[in-house]
Amino acid sequence: MTELVDELENPLILIVDDEFMQRLPMREALEQDGCRVVEAENGEQAWEIIQKERPDMVISDVVMPRMDGFSMCQIIRQQKGLEHLPIVMATSLDDMTSIERAYRLGATDFITKPIHWGLLGHRVRYILRSASTAQALSNREMELLRTRMEIIRRLGQAAEYRDNETGLHIMRMSRYSALLGQAHGLSLSDQELLLEAAPMHDVGKIGIPDSILLKPGKLTETEFTIMKRHTLLGGELLDREPSLLLQTAHLIALTHHEKWDGKGYPYGMAGEEIPLMGRICSLADVFDALTSKRPYKEPWSVEESVNEIRRCSGTAFDPRLVPLFVEVLPEIMVIKETFSDISQSILAPAKPSS
Ligand SMILES: [Fe+2]
Ligand SMILES: [Fe+2]
Repeated sequence: MTELVDELENPLILIVDDEFMQRLPMREALEQDGCRVVEAENGEQAWEIIQKERPDMVISDVVMPRMDGFSMCQIIRQQKGLEHLPIVMATSLDDMTSIERAYRLGATDFITKPIHWGLLGHRVRYILRSASTAQALSNREMELLRTRMEIIRRLGQAAEYRDNETGLHIMRMSRYSALLGQAHGLSLSDQELLLEAAPMHDVGKIGIPDSILLKPGKLTETEFTIMKRHTLLGGELLDREPSLLLQTAHLIALTHHEKWDGKGYPYGMAGEEIPLMGRICSLADVFDALTSKRPYKEPWSVEESVNEIRRCSGTAFDPRLVPLFVEVLPEIMVIKETFSDISQSILAPAKPSS
Protein backbone atom coordinates (compact mmCIF):
# COMPACT_ATOMS: atom_id res chain seq x y z
CA MET A 1 0.00 0.00 0.00
CA THR A 2 1.18 3.54 -0.75
CA GLU A 3 2.01 6.26 1.77
CA LEU A 4 -0.70 7.89 3.87
CA VAL A 5 -0.52 11.16 1.92
CA ASP A 6 -1.01 9.43 -1.43
CA GLU A 7 -3.86 7.37 -0.07
CA LEU A 8 -5.66 10.52 0.93
CA GLU A 9 -4.90 12.44 -2.25
CA ASN A 10 -5.20 9.96 -5.12
CA PRO A 11 -5.98 6.55 -3.70
CA LEU A 12 -6.26 3.67 -6.13
CA ILE A 13 -9.68 2.02 -5.74
CA LEU A 14 -10.58 -1.34 -7.26
CA ILE A 15 -14.29 -1.69 -8.11
CA VAL A 16 -15.46 -5.30 -8.43
CA ASP A 17 -18.92 -5.81 -9.95
CA ASP A 18 -20.23 -8.00 -12.75
CA GLU A 19 -22.63 -5.28 -13.94
CA PHE A 20 -21.15 -2.49 -16.02
CA MET A 21 -24.05 -0.20 -15.11
CA GLN A 22 -23.12 -0.55 -11.43
CA ARG A 23 -19.41 0.09 -12.00
CA LEU A 24 -19.88 3.15 -14.19
CA PRO A 25 -21.57 5.54 -11.71
CA MET A 26 -19.23 4.37 -8.95
CA ARG A 27 -16.20 5.08 -11.13
CA GLU A 28 -17.53 8.54 -11.96
CA ALA A 29 -18.27 9.39 -8.34
CA LEU A 30 -14.86 8.21 -7.16
CA GLU A 31 -12.93 9.93 -9.98
CA GLN A 32 -14.76 13.16 -9.24
CA ASP A 33 -13.46 12.84 -5.74
CA GLY A 34 -9.85 12.53 -6.92
CA CYS A 35 -9.52 8.76 -6.70
CA ARG A 36 -7.87 6.61 -9.34
CA VAL A 37 -10.01 3.65 -10.36
CA VAL A 38 -9.49 0.13 -11.75
CA GLU A 39 -12.30 -2.29 -12.45
CA ALA A 40 -12.87 -6.04 -12.36
CA GLU A 41 -15.93 -8.08 -13.32
CA ASN A 42 -15.53 -10.82 -10.74
CA GLY A 43 -13.40 -12.00 -7.83
CA GLU A 44 -10.97 -13.91 -10.01
CA GLN A 45 -10.14 -10.89 -12.14
CA ALA A 46 -9.99 -8.73 -9.02
CA TRP A 47 -7.42 -11.03 -7.41
CA GLU A 48 -5.15 -10.71 -10.45
CA ILE A 49 -5.41 -6.91 -10.36
CA ILE A 50 -4.77 -6.79 -6.60
CA GLN A 51 -1.53 -8.69 -7.00
CA LYS A 52 -0.34 -6.56 -9.91
CA GLU A 53 -1.52 -3.09 -8.95
CA ARG A 54 -1.83 -3.19 -5.16
CA PRO A 55 -4.90 -0.96 -4.84
CA ASP A 56 -5.50 1.03 -1.65
CA MET A 57 -9.06 -0.22 -1.33
CA VAL A 58 -11.44 -2.76 -2.83
CA ILE A 59 -15.15 -2.03 -3.19
CA SER A 60 -16.86 -5.22 -4.20
CA ASP A 61 -20.24 -6.63 -5.06
CA VAL A 62 -21.16 -9.83 -3.20
CA VAL A 63 -22.99 -11.96 -5.75
CA MET A 64 -20.90 -12.42 -8.89
CA PRO A 65 -20.23 -15.27 -11.33
CA ARG A 66 -16.85 -17.12 -11.15
CA MET A 67 -15.56 -15.97 -7.76
CA ASP A 68 -18.04 -14.17 -5.49
CA GLY A 69 -17.27 -11.43 -2.96
CA PHE A 70 -17.06 -13.82 -0.01
CA SER A 71 -14.42 -16.07 -1.59
CA MET A 72 -12.46 -13.08 -2.83
CA CYS A 73 -12.45 -11.62 0.68
CA GLN A 74 -11.18 -14.89 2.10
CA ILE A 75 -8.36 -15.15 -0.44
CA ILE A 76 -7.23 -11.57 0.14
CA ARG A 77 -7.07 -12.04 3.91
CA GLN A 78 -5.01 -15.21 3.59
CA GLN A 79 -2.33 -13.34 1.69
CA LYS A 80 0.55 -12.00 3.77
CA GLY A 81 0.80 -8.24 3.49
CA LEU A 82 -2.86 -7.73 2.63
CA GLU A 83 -4.19 -8.06 6.20
CA HIS A 84 -5.07 -4.39 6.30
CA LEU A 85 -6.27 -3.82 2.72
CA PRO A 86 -9.72 -2.27 3.18
CA ILE A 87 -12.46 -4.37 1.56
CA VAL A 88 -15.85 -2.71 1.36
CA MET A 89 -18.82 -4.82 0.33
CA ALA A 90 -21.42 -3.01 -1.76
CA THR A 91 -24.59 -4.99 -1.88
CA SER A 92 -28.31 -4.78 -2.10
CA LEU A 93 -28.45 -7.82 0.14
CA ASP A 94 -28.96 -6.05 3.42
CA ASP A 95 -29.71 -9.25 5.31
CA MET A 96 -27.68 -9.72 8.47
CA THR A 97 -26.49 -13.22 7.51
CA SER A 98 -24.58 -11.95 4.48
CA ILE A 99 -23.18 -9.01 6.39
CA GLU A 100 -22.05 -11.20 9.27
CA ARG A 101 -20.47 -13.73 6.91
CA ALA A 102 -18.57 -11.03 5.05
CA TYR A 103 -17.28 -9.53 8.32
CA ARG A 104 -16.20 -12.98 9.49
CA LEU A 105 -14.27 -13.43 6.26
CA GLY A 106 -12.47 -10.14 6.78
CA ALA A 107 -14.57 -7.41 5.11
CA THR A 108 -13.78 -3.98 6.52
CA ASP A 109 -17.13 -2.31 5.97
CA PHE A 110 -20.42 -2.30 4.06
CA ILE A 111 -22.21 0.06 1.72
CA THR A 112 -25.78 -0.84 0.87
CA LYS A 113 -27.19 -0.28 -2.57
CA PRO A 114 -28.59 2.03 -3.81
CA ILE A 115 -25.42 3.97 -3.04
CA HIS A 116 -25.58 7.66 -2.21
CA TRP A 117 -22.96 8.82 -4.73
CA GLY A 118 -22.43 12.20 -3.08
CA LEU A 119 -21.36 10.55 0.18
CA LEU A 120 -19.24 7.77 -1.32
CA GLY A 121 -16.01 9.80 -1.42
CA HIS A 122 -16.29 10.79 2.25
CA ARG A 123 -16.96 7.20 3.24
CA VAL A 124 -13.99 5.95 1.20
CA ARG A 125 -11.59 8.46 2.76
CA TYR A 126 -12.81 7.70 6.25
CA ILE A 127 -12.20 3.96 5.75
CA LEU A 128 -8.79 4.60 4.17
CA ARG A 129 -7.73 6.75 7.10
CA SER A 130 -8.78 4.09 9.63
CA ALA A 131 -6.98 1.37 7.66
CA SER A 132 -3.84 3.45 7.49
CA THR A 133 -3.90 4.01 11.26
CA ALA A 134 -4.43 0.27 11.85
CA GLN A 135 -1.48 -0.52 9.57
CA ALA A 136 0.76 1.99 11.34
CA LEU A 137 -0.21 0.56 14.75
CA SER A 138 0.45 -2.98 13.64
CA ASN A 139 3.86 -2.00 12.22
CA ARG A 140 4.69 -0.32 15.51
CA GLU A 141 3.62 -3.39 17.48
CA MET A 142 5.78 -5.62 15.29
CA GLU A 143 8.70 -3.28 15.76
CA LEU A 144 8.25 -3.33 19.55
CA LEU A 145 8.06 -7.11 19.56
CA ARG A 146 11.20 -7.38 17.43
CA THR A 147 13.05 -4.95 19.68
CA ARG A 148 12.01 -6.78 22.82
CA MET A 149 13.14 -10.11 21.40
CA GLU A 150 16.44 -8.66 20.25
CA ILE A 151 17.14 -7.17 23.69
CA ILE A 152 16.47 -10.50 25.37
CA ARG A 153 18.63 -12.31 22.80
CA ARG A 154 21.51 -9.95 23.44
CA LEU A 155 21.03 -10.32 27.16
CA GLY A 156 21.42 -14.08 26.72
CA GLN A 157 24.58 -13.48 24.75
CA ALA A 158 25.89 -11.04 27.36
CA ALA A 159 25.37 -13.65 30.09
CA GLU A 160 27.18 -16.21 27.96
CA TYR A 161 30.15 -13.92 27.29
CA ARG A 162 30.78 -13.72 31.02
CA ASP A 163 31.88 -17.33 31.33
CA ASN A 164 32.49 -18.22 27.69
CA GLU A 165 34.71 -15.90 25.73
CA THR A 166 33.44 -16.66 22.25
CA GLY A 167 29.73 -17.04 22.92
CA LEU A 168 29.77 -20.01 20.56
CA HIS A 169 28.42 -22.33 23.24
CA ILE A 170 24.91 -20.96 22.79
CA MET A 171 25.15 -21.24 19.01
CA ARG A 172 26.13 -24.90 19.18
CA MET A 173 23.88 -25.82 22.04
CA SER A 174 20.77 -24.23 20.49
CA ARG A 175 21.45 -26.02 17.19
CA TYR A 176 22.00 -29.34 18.97
CA SER A 177 18.67 -28.74 20.74
CA ALA A 178 16.76 -28.03 17.52
CA LEU A 179 18.29 -31.12 15.90
CA LEU A 180 17.32 -33.28 18.85
CA GLY A 181 13.83 -31.76 18.71
CA GLN A 182 13.61 -32.73 15.06
CA ALA A 183 14.72 -36.30 15.84
CA HIS A 184 12.05 -36.42 18.53
CA GLY A 185 9.44 -35.48 15.91
CA LEU A 186 8.75 -31.88 16.93
CA SER A 187 7.01 -29.71 14.36
CA LEU A 188 9.09 -27.30 12.31
CA SER A 189 7.74 -24.33 14.27
CA ASP A 190 8.66 -26.00 17.60
CA GLN A 191 12.16 -26.72 16.28
CA GLU A 192 12.49 -23.04 15.40
CA LEU A 193 11.18 -22.11 18.82
CA LEU A 194 13.89 -24.25 20.40
CA LEU A 195 16.56 -22.73 18.20
CA GLU A 196 15.56 -19.22 19.24
CA ALA A 197 14.71 -19.84 22.89
CA ALA A 198 17.61 -22.13 23.88
CA PRO A 199 20.27 -19.35 23.64
CA MET A 200 18.63 -17.70 26.64
CA HIS A 201 18.96 -20.75 28.92
CA ASP A 202 21.68 -19.22 31.08
CA VAL A 203 20.51 -15.60 30.97
CA GLY A 204 20.22 -15.71 34.79
CA LYS A 205 24.04 -15.97 35.05
CA ILE A 206 23.98 -12.19 34.78
CA GLY A 207 23.09 -12.22 38.47
CA ILE A 208 25.89 -14.58 39.57
CA PRO A 209 29.12 -13.02 40.93
CA ASP A 210 32.29 -13.46 38.82
CA SER A 211 34.11 -14.99 41.80
CA ILE A 212 31.75 -17.98 41.50
CA LEU A 213 31.06 -17.97 37.76
CA LEU A 214 34.73 -17.82 36.77
CA LYS A 215 36.20 -19.87 39.62
CA PRO A 216 38.68 -22.32 38.10
CA GLY A 217 38.29 -24.95 40.82
CA LYS A 218 35.40 -26.85 42.32
CA LEU A 219 32.66 -24.74 43.91
CA THR A 220 32.02 -24.97 47.65
CA GLU A 221 28.55 -26.00 48.74
CA THR A 222 27.54 -22.38 49.44
CA GLU A 223 28.95 -21.23 46.11
CA PHE A 224 27.06 -23.99 44.29
CA THR A 225 23.83 -22.95 46.03
CA ILE A 226 24.35 -19.44 44.69
CA MET A 227 25.26 -20.77 41.23
CA LYS A 228 22.04 -22.79 41.08
CA ARG A 229 20.06 -19.58 41.45
CA HIS A 230 20.82 -18.70 37.79
CA THR A 231 17.86 -20.89 36.78
CA LEU A 232 15.40 -18.96 38.96
CA LEU A 233 16.95 -15.60 38.03
CA GLY A 234 16.61 -16.44 34.32
CA GLY A 235 13.06 -17.61 34.91
CA GLU A 236 12.19 -14.33 36.60
CA LEU A 237 13.84 -12.28 33.88
CA LEU A 238 11.78 -13.99 31.18
CA ASP A 239 8.57 -14.24 33.15
CA ARG A 240 5.12 -12.89 32.25
CA GLU A 241 5.87 -12.32 28.59
CA PRO A 242 3.03 -12.85 26.14
CA SER A 243 5.14 -14.17 23.26
CA LEU A 244 5.42 -17.93 22.83
CA LEU A 245 9.15 -17.55 22.26
CA LEU A 246 9.77 -15.89 25.59
CA GLN A 247 7.43 -18.27 27.40
CA THR A 248 9.49 -21.14 25.99
CA ALA A 249 12.72 -19.37 26.93
CA HIS A 250 11.31 -18.92 30.45
CA LEU A 251 10.59 -22.66 30.75
CA ILE A 252 14.02 -23.60 29.42
CA ALA A 253 15.84 -21.17 31.74
CA LEU A 254 13.97 -22.66 34.69
CA THR A 255 14.28 -26.35 33.84
CA HIS A 256 17.53 -26.94 31.95
CA HIS A 257 19.21 -28.29 35.10
CA GLU A 258 16.38 -30.57 36.16
CA LYS A 259 17.18 -34.29 35.94
CA TRP A 260 15.05 -37.21 34.81
CA ASP A 261 15.47 -38.93 38.22
CA GLY A 262 14.34 -35.83 40.14
CA LYS A 263 17.81 -35.00 41.49
CA GLY A 264 18.29 -31.80 39.52
CA TYR A 265 17.54 -28.20 40.41
CA PRO A 266 15.85 -25.80 41.13
CA TYR A 267 12.63 -27.77 41.72
CA GLY A 268 13.71 -31.41 41.65
CA MET A 269 11.13 -32.21 38.95
CA ALA A 270 11.21 -35.77 37.61
CA GLY A 271 10.48 -37.55 34.30
CA GLU A 272 7.87 -36.00 32.07
CA GLU A 273 7.08 -33.46 34.73
CA ILE A 274 10.08 -31.63 33.25
CA PRO A 275 8.96 -29.82 30.08
CA LEU A 276 10.26 -31.54 26.92
CA MET A 277 12.05 -28.36 25.79
CA GLY A 278 13.92 -28.32 29.12
CA ARG A 279 14.87 -32.01 28.81
CA ILE A 280 16.19 -31.48 25.29
CA CYS A 281 18.20 -28.39 26.20
CA SER A 282 19.63 -30.11 29.26
CA LEU A 283 21.16 -32.87 27.12
CA ALA A 284 22.42 -30.47 24.46
CA ASP A 285 23.86 -28.15 27.10
CA VAL A 286 25.72 -30.90 28.97
CA PHE A 287 27.15 -32.42 25.77
CA ASP A 288 28.54 -29.05 24.75
CA ALA A 289 29.86 -28.36 28.24
CA LEU A 290 31.62 -31.73 28.30
CA THR A 291 33.24 -31.26 24.90
CA SER A 292 34.31 -27.67 25.65
CA LYS A 293 37.08 -26.17 27.70
CA ARG A 294 35.79 -24.51 30.86
CA PRO A 295 37.61 -22.55 33.60
CA TYR A 296 37.53 -25.67 35.75
CA LYS A 297 38.24 -28.40 33.13
CA GLU A 298 39.80 -29.41 29.82
CA PRO A 299 37.51 -30.55 26.97
CA TRP A 300 36.48 -34.21 26.91
CA SER A 301 36.69 -36.18 23.68
CA VAL A 302 33.44 -36.79 21.79
CA GLU A 303 33.66 -40.49 22.62
CA GLU A 304 34.06 -39.85 26.35
CA SER A 305 31.23 -37.31 26.27
CA VAL A 306 28.83 -39.63 24.43
CA ASN A 307 29.66 -42.40 26.89
CA GLU A 308 28.88 -40.06 29.75
CA ILE A 309 25.54 -39.09 28.16
CA ARG A 310 24.74 -42.80 27.72
CA ARG A 311 25.75 -43.54 31.29
CA CYS A 312 23.37 -40.84 32.53
CA SER A 313 20.41 -42.06 30.47
CA GLY A 314 17.49 -42.47 32.86
CA THR A 315 19.26 -40.60 35.67
CA ALA A 316 20.16 -37.13 34.33
CA PHE A 317 18.58 -37.49 30.90
CA ASP A 318 15.31 -38.61 29.36
CA PRO A 319 16.06 -42.25 28.32
CA ARG A 320 14.14 -41.73 25.06
CA LEU A 321 16.24 -38.73 24.08
CA VAL A 322 19.63 -40.38 24.55
CA PRO A 323 19.34 -42.90 21.65
CA LEU A 324 17.96 -40.11 19.45
CA PHE A 325 21.00 -38.02 20.29
CA VAL A 326 23.33 -40.89 19.37
CA GLU A 327 21.40 -41.33 16.11
CA VAL A 328 21.96 -37.71 15.04
CA LEU A 329 25.57 -37.64 16.25
CA PRO A 330 27.01 -37.25 12.70
CA GLU A 331 24.97 -34.04 12.28
CA ILE A 332 25.91 -32.91 15.79
CA MET A 333 29.56 -33.25 14.75
CA VAL A 334 28.99 -30.99 11.73
CA ILE A 335 27.52 -28.27 13.99
CA LYS A 336 30.39 -28.76 16.46
CA GLU A 337 32.99 -28.26 13.72
CA THR A 338 31.16 -25.31 12.11
CA PHE A 339 30.92 -23.39 15.37
CA SER A 340 34.14 -24.57 17.00
CA ASP A 341 35.97 -22.24 19.39
CA ILE A 342 39.16 -22.87 17.41
CA SER A 343 37.72 -21.67 14.10
CA GLN A 344 36.39 -18.64 15.97
CA SER A 345 39.77 -17.76 17.48
CA ILE A 346 41.37 -18.03 14.02
CA LEU A 347 38.74 -15.69 12.56
CA ALA A 348 38.64 -13.25 15.46
CA PRO A 349 40.83 -10.13 15.25
CA ALA A 350 43.81 -10.20 17.61
CA LYS A 351 43.20 -8.49 20.95
CA PRO A 352 45.29 -5.30 21.41
CA SER A 353 48.01 -5.87 23.99
CA SER A 354 47.70 -3.70 27.06
FE1 LIG B 1 22.70 -23.29 33.21
FE1 LIG C 1 24.87 -23.53 28.82
